[in-house]
Amino acid sequence: MISKKGMAKRHHNQTGNLQSLFLRMEELVLANSGEDEFEEVFKLLIAKLWDERSQQSRFHCYSTNEATFAAITKLMQQAEKEWPGVLNEVKSRLTPEHLSICVEAISKHTISNDSLDVIDSFFEFIVSKSAKSSKGQYFTPRHVVELCVRILEPASHEMILDPACGSGGFLLHTLRFVRRNEELNNLEEVQRFCSEKLWGFDIDARATRVAKALMLLAGDGSSNIIRLNSLLKSEMVGLFNNTDDPNLTIEDVCRSRMKRYKGFDVILTNPPFAGEIRENYFLNCYTVANKKHRVERDILFMERCIELLKPGGRLAIVLPHNKFAGNSFSFLREWILKKARVLAVIGLGRHTFLPHTHQKASILFLQKSHPSTKLLPDYNIFFAISERDGKNSKGQFILRKPYFEVDNDWDIVDHDFSEITENFARFLIQENIRFGE
Ligand SMILES: C[S@@+](CC[C@H](N)C(=O)[O-])C[C@H]1O[C@@H](n2cnc3c(N)ncnc32)[C@H](O)[C@@H]1O
Repeated sequence: MISKKGMAKRHHNQTGNLQSLFLRMEELVLANSGEDEFEEVFKLLIAKLWDERSQQSRFHCYSTNEATFAAITKLMQQAEKEWPGVLNEVKSRLTPEHLSICVEAISKHTISNDSLDVIDSFFEFIVSKSAKSSKGQYFTPRHVVELCVRILEPASHEMILDPACGSGGFLLHTLRFVRRNEELNNLEEVQRFCSEKLWGFDIDARATRVAKALMLLAGDGSSNIIRLNSLLKSEMVGLFNNTDDPNLTIEDVCRSRMKRYKGFDVILTNPPFAGEIRENYFLNCYTVANKKHRVERDILFMERCIELLKPGGRLAIVLPHNKFAGNSFSFLREWILKKARVLAVIGLGRHTFLPHTHQKASILFLQKSHPSTKLLPDYNIFFAISERDGKNSKGQFILRKPYFEVDNDWDIVDHDFSEITENFARFLIQENIRFGE
């Protein structure tokens, strides 16, 4: 049940146990350990999850601190073997004594009893404690993610991508949408969908590990979450001399993992709002850089997404509002209109991304044109402005009244996105637009 006083973070009550557990461990040992709190807690949580999943009941304190350390290390090793790439190391950096204190606390909690939203929300809580909002690394609010998914309606036969996947919010909600919409309940089908159709890339190692962990929990199987620079294109690769790093592109990875890669049907993404690219080998390979010496990363993401889509493929991209209105970005807008049919623009409220950034943002939805298509004649575009973004000026969620006993942001956060999706569905009918055909 959700607290009537609102919540500083998502699902305050439900994550309450995990959060207070973390705060207690922080108080007792983590703050003084000198180690990275996120990494140490993440390793322990994965070991605990593996213990619960494999029904071993070995995550507890033993007669000595050393024996506890050895047992937990074994669980971490097994988890990494079963779920490769989720842990960056399979040994705690805490002393056996400190580790035992944490194990004692965590062993009383059954993580499998928590819903996925609760775990997702807890990861957000611990990630944001070491957050890099200034680098554009924050979780996209889950009701915004859900809005994008409901508008684009991805299907299980489609190839779906987030090239800046962070914690995997768009992939997670796509999986849930597809399961719900198509009544995909068979575990094998769910696993196949995750391992063949859902793709996530991110440059940040921590983000990709969190995304992998969440997708493992949601899809109960392997997933295609890979760390790489999504802006890299094959024509640039020869320009790098670093032989230790293979500098793979998204296309390289997809071609190596599937027989016939032809691009993506659906891309849902929220590229970082901050950061500029100045390297010429990037700028020279992007038309939208328009011969400039420095360009914002999100602009390059825009071009890269359209490039990665199949003709007819659909894109939802969250961008800072200046890209839609500023004079200096008219070149970008003209370029987009030559490459795609714009379906919709949804303006988000100014508090939506607080407390991470004050930037006002909008979501652009489009469908890639066939390469032979010239500039499309005039057509209708769906415009909407959200007037209830579900957050207050401190970035805290505003909850709906009466308070529901549910645990997903779409139902509990006070937003007006349902009206927007209903109006958009009517627009699609009026315009005779059908997705996925
Ligand atoms: C706003 S966050 C995305 C959050 C994500 N939607 C979620 O819900 O967690 C932007 C992400 O872009 C990633 N990123 C930035 N530059 C990148 C690049 N060149 N290639 C791949 N990922 C990149 C960042 O590491 C960050 O995780």
